Amino acid sequence: MSASKNTYNRVTTHSLLKMKAEGEKIAMLTAYDFTLAGLVDQAGIDVILVGDSASNVIAGHETTLPITLDQMIYHASAVIRGVKRALVVVDLPFGTYQADSKEALRSAIKIMKESGAHAVKLEGGFQERSSIERILQAGIPVMGHLGLTPQSIYKFGTYTVRAKKEAEAQQLIKDAKMLEEIGCFGLVLEKVPAHLAEKVASLVSIPVIGIGAGNGVDGQVLVLHDMLGMSKEFSPRFLRRYLDLHTEIIGAIQQYTKDVKKKDFPNESEQY
Ligand code: KIV
Repeated sequence: MSASKNTYNRVTTHSLLKMKAEGEKIAMLTAYDFTLAGLVDQAGIDVILVGDSASNVIAGHETTLPITLDQMIYHASAVIRGVKRALVVVDLPFGTYQADSKEALRSAIKIMKESGAHAVKLEGGFQERSSIERILQAGIPVMGHLGLTPQSIYKFGTYTVRAKKEAEAQQLIKDAKMLEEIGCFGLVLEKVPAHLAEKVASLVSIPVIGIGAGNGVDGQVLVLHDMLGMSKEFSPRFLRRYLDLHTEIIGAIQQYTKDVKKKDFPNESEQY
């Protein structure tokens, strides 16, 4: 059963705008493969993000920078095959939109054509304006991403909270308004002070989805593997773990290994 007030057969960018207008919070999670995307969708999530965090949680890279456009399309097309209801948004990976707006458009079109996704997300404010405008002009919905933008980690130097200083906070507000004005259907705000995130959400009519941005925004997003407790290492303050799959999975695999070693598996009813 869905926790949603509205029962959407298919969540669209318009449903999200309506949810914000009606005060219904938007639930968003990442997914990177067919099986988990199917579960996330069946559980009633509104938006699935095929995040470039796949670079970390799936491929084991330290940053999101190495993942390629073709790898994102591979993940996104698997997710799309598992999803019936949620809106599927795909990250444009690092290096596929920053050079110029034509390249940005080509990358976005490739994602939409080859994966069947419903929208793209990209990081950055005013620097990316022309790229975002060009993608929007082609009829592709765009979600913005401000605050901590992990593709710029080598510029920031750390993954700490952004926009604590007034100048950066003011710029972030300007960028959010610009994203709304040019036609983005929503934006992610990552790791910024809760009072700033709440202010941004009150100043724009498009949904603001927070991660580490407090409860005053229009929705929340988490990385699926983090909220399922697949790893014990990553423990930011904003993360709530809903399961301890790390312990569960290790326990199950230890039990299986023991059963095989002691010739307990398979038993008579598990063979032909
Ligand atoms: O790639 C990702 O998972 C993201 C979320 C953290 C918002 O961009």
